[in-house]
Amino acid sequence: KKGAVEEGDPRDFVGKMERGKKRCAMFYGSQTGTAEEYALRLAKEAKTRFGLSSLVCDPEEYDFANLDTVPSDCAIFFSVATYGEGEPTDNAQPFMDFLMDPSVEFSMGGSTLENLHYVVFGLGNKTYAYYNEVARKIDNRLAELGAKRIGERGEGDDDKSMEEDYLGWKDSMWEKFSEVLGVEEGGAGDVADFAVTEVTTLPAEKVYHGELSPRALLATASGASTPIGSYDAKNPYPAPVLASKELFTVGGERNCVHIEFDVTGSGMTYQHGDHVGVWPSNPDTEVDRMLHILGLASDERRHAVVTIESLDPALAKVPFPTPATYDAIFRHYLDISAVASRQTLAFLARYAPTEEAREKLTRWGTNRDAYVAEVDGPCLKLAEVLQAAVGDSLEPPFSSTPWPIPFDRMISVVPRLQPRYYSISSSSKLHPSTIHVTAVVLKYQTPPSSVLKHEPRWVFGLSTNFILNVSRASSGANTPVEGQAQSTLGVPQNVTMHKTPQYRLAGPRGHYVRENVYRVPIHVRRSTFRLPTSPKVPVIMIGPGTGVAPFRGFVQERVALARKAIEKNGPDALAEWAPMYLFYGCRKSNEDFLYKDEWPTYEQELKGKLRMKVAFSREDRNADGSKVYVQDLLWNERDDLAPLILEKRAYVYICGDAKSMAKSVEEKLARMLGAAKGGSAEVEGAKEVKLLKDRNRLLSDVWS
Ligand code: 2AM
Repeated sequence: KKGAVEEGDPRDFVGKMERGKKRCAMFYGSQTGTAEEYALRLAKEAKTRFGLSSLVCDPEEYDFANLDTVPSDCAIFFSVATYGEGEPTDNAQPFMDFLMDPSVEFSMGGSTLENLHYVVFGLGNKTYAYYNEVARKIDNRLAELGAKRIGERGEGDDDKSMEEDYLGWKDSMWEKFSEVLGVEEGGAGDVADFAVTEVTTLPAEKVYHGELSPRALLATASGASTPIGSYDAKNPYPAPVLASKELFTVGGERNCVHIEFDVTGSGMTYQHGDHVGVWPSNPDTEVDRMLHILGLASDERRHAVVTIESLDPALAKVPFPTPATYDAIFRHYLDISAVASRQTLAFLARYAPTEEAREKLTRWGTNRDAYVAEVDGPCLKLAEVLQAAVGDSLEPPFSSTPWPIPFDRMISVVPRLQPRYYSISSSSKLHPSTIHVTAVVLKYQTPPSSVLKHEPRWVFGLSTNFILNVSRASSGANTPVEGQAQSTLGVPQNVTMHKTPQYRLAGPRGHYVRENVYRVPIHVRRSTFRLPTSPKVPVIMIGPGTGVAPFRGFVQERVALARKAIEKNGPDALAEWAPMYLFYGCRKSNEDFLYKDEWPTYEQELKGKLRMKVAFSREDRNADGSKVYVQDLLWNERDDLAPLILEKRAYVYICGDAKSMAKSVEEKLARMLGAAKGGSAEVEGAKEVKLLKDRNRLLSDVWS
């Protein structure tokens, strides 16, 4: 019978709650782990505030037919992310299918949830349409079924203010929670989630040194260089770096790296338009900084081995594989390179070595303005904040005051290091055994702060600088470039120059570098950003900057197809092919024109079917004197493009900056289509754009 849940069934979360005396269950719809983290935080707070224990659950592992049997003195939480065009994460899809079914029937035979109390926190991104659609859908549907929400629906904006949105929402929710469930504040306070034991008797091959999966450890132990089996986010493949080069022709200030990962023999496959997850490590300086603060910096201490066990596996999972060394934990597993969060600072205040430091941390943790001005503004990492709080120098060599923070609390408050995703810039038809990535290296200066009287600081993106190091190490110079000073171009005289961060690139036990071939753990994530199968369907691609990455793959895909067609049917084989427009933009034709030498070859091979239009924003001007951007070129071609879209069913692809570029491009599209329909951008144009999206003929791969 539909929806029935058997007693003792492992998919029965209500039974599990009952047996474990849990008053809350937190379900997370999570793709990269963020929504799961918020679910855990909610569970933790239920414990510290009210002494209540919770189940934290992956909705994929449970049935929801017995939602109607959750007792009314319990609460169900949903911490759910929204993706792409308002879609749930993969693990929340079955739950959504069940809940949204108009003829849903619960285990008691009815279709109402009058006893159910629920809490919703959504994770979305305001630069995309359908902001927090999944959280809203769940909320509306549960309300429709008679369930009662506790407090307001929380909505976090990943683009700007996730943490602030969460902090701003949760307190009034917990107030209502205490009323509804009849529970009082004053729970257990600061409780340990993990038991940490230092061990000395383990054989070396059982200890993790940065391996990301049990299989990787097994491979290391047996002397192999790669783990075996199939590779995915849970078991990434340490791919050798086959080739790499820097793409910008002006050295110094800006870098863009082209890197090729070799997947020969791994069984890994990919398609044009897919993403590749790259697993970075933390830079040496940050690892040392953190180890100094925890009093773990000596050679002996940093390589001490610890096992970690969860004291309440339902509430907190050990976030990385153990037993592991302290060094490996801070280098490969925990994200110590991110800006310190307010919540973490507020929590760690209790361990401050001085009264003054405690006051500072408390202030940063509780006063939003102080936090923004003094921590977030200068982009201080956790260990840097702790140094700043006691007045230690932020510059190595470190002589930091040790903080008496129990190591298990660090595991609880520092998030796990996550892979970073890049649009693959090659086609598997042309390059079946290599995956290409095109990454612009993120580094920028923070504005000077009058509040803290600090000078501008250099901020280095973790993963792109890691890739830059790998690239430099593997192309010629056999060792990472030591202390590459920043060029002084455009930097005020009084600024202390910072060095590009250095990463220890050898990986676990040196296995990631063999004969100067470096390896980087990667895995492929499938996407729906794909060309139409038939080359007779026109395509319009818009990708300025590194937004061109997937389109290099698209063009290569068609080149491979063209070669086959010509081989089979002769030189006129492409006559029936539709045009392929590529709108690309960069600053100057001789500075940052990505793959400048490759495009003419592709154009030739595609016999004029590839029409590339390039906007040089710092070279050319529009008639009104403004910068020329891709959207201006798009507008110039409107007489050709509008009929392709409206009559020839062209596919439109946008890749790159979500905030301003993608928005302006969509506006121009609406204007173009509105005019072609004899109407306005706002009415007819907007309607056509929506239609394109609904029919999956306007696809975006955008980031912010
Ligand atoms: P700019 O830096 O001269 O402003 C790749 O970064 C290219 O995208 C650059 O030429 C950059 O120009 C341009 N660009 C910046 N903002 C844009 C926007 N809102 N729309 C389109 N292109 C933009």
